[in-house]
Amino acid sequence: MLLMSGKEVSRSIRGKLSEDCSRFVAAYGYRPTLAVVLVGEDPASQTYVSAKRRACEELGFGHMDYALPTTTSQEELLTLVRKLNDDKSVHGILVQLPLPNGLDEDLVIEAIDPAKDVDGFHPQNVGRLLIGKDCFISCTPKGILAMLDYYHIDTDGKDVCVIGRSNIVGKPMAALLMQKGRDATVTVCNTHTKDLADHVRRADIVIAAAGHPGTVTADMVKDGAVVVDVGTNRVDDPTKKNGWRLVGDVDFDAVGPKCGAISPVPGGVGPMTITMLMSNTMLAARRQAGESV
Ligand code: GUN
Repeated sequence: MLLMSGKEVSRSIRGKLSEDCSRFVAAYGYRPTLAVVLVGEDPASQTYVSAKRRACEELGFGHMDYALPTTTSQEELLTLVRKLNDDKSVHGILVQLPLPNGLDEDLVIEAIDPAKDVDGFHPQNVGRLLIGKDCFISCTPKGILAMLDYYHIDTDGKDVCVIGRSNIVGKPMAALLMQKGRDATVTVCNTHTKDLADHVRRADIVIAAAGHPGTVTADMVKDGAVVVDVGTNRVDDPTKKNGWRLVGDVDFDAVGPKCGAISPVPGGVGPMTITMLMSNTMLAARRQAGESV
């Protein structure tokens, strides 16, 4: 069984991104820069935002952090997004989701300039993704493809089961895998799927993005299948200093030995997502500098 280490793949890609960044700075005299907007005090969101800041620092990117109070109004948030759209020193904009109650995520996402939408959430980017055109690709599915590529796992003609239909992971993942060049046969399952085990059992590649621990168990997985675990579930663990630990959607200990390849949680898809955010920010900066990439 091959353990697909997002940490290892990230290290390799980040090495290249760091060189790209140095070359960019030498050519233009400024850094590719990411603006991150966090509204409220959700602890998981705070952790993600810190990790994004650290990645920028590690690779030599510029970053601007905006921490807004929970009481921020829709108009105040939209005003900030518009200001960042107009700011030539900002190349990528990320508004951390979920937003506190009362703020409309769709309105915020649609306000972001698609050319700076490094999350790939704007309807223009999502639409272009579906029809196979150049766009910003949502970071988690983009990271999963980069991980499969790194381990030479071909998707051509493979049966892929995507569990979960979120706008961030399941839908873009399915759209990417069915494109020409990836050529997979894709099944997308959701909470209403009649017999999840039946779909998973037929899959050569399983992408588990359900958001529930234990969604994929050993009896559901075909021998030699490739299993990508996208779950980031916090479960209580009194033996840990913070009282919790991170687990995926897959019963790793039982499923692992049956697999051809599997990604662990933590250390699998998670690091890839942030690395792809950096990759998208690099791409955004180069495009805004007039390069045709
Ligand atoms: N919340 C959880 N994942 C993400 C992500 O990839 N981007 C943003 N903006 N918010 C998130």
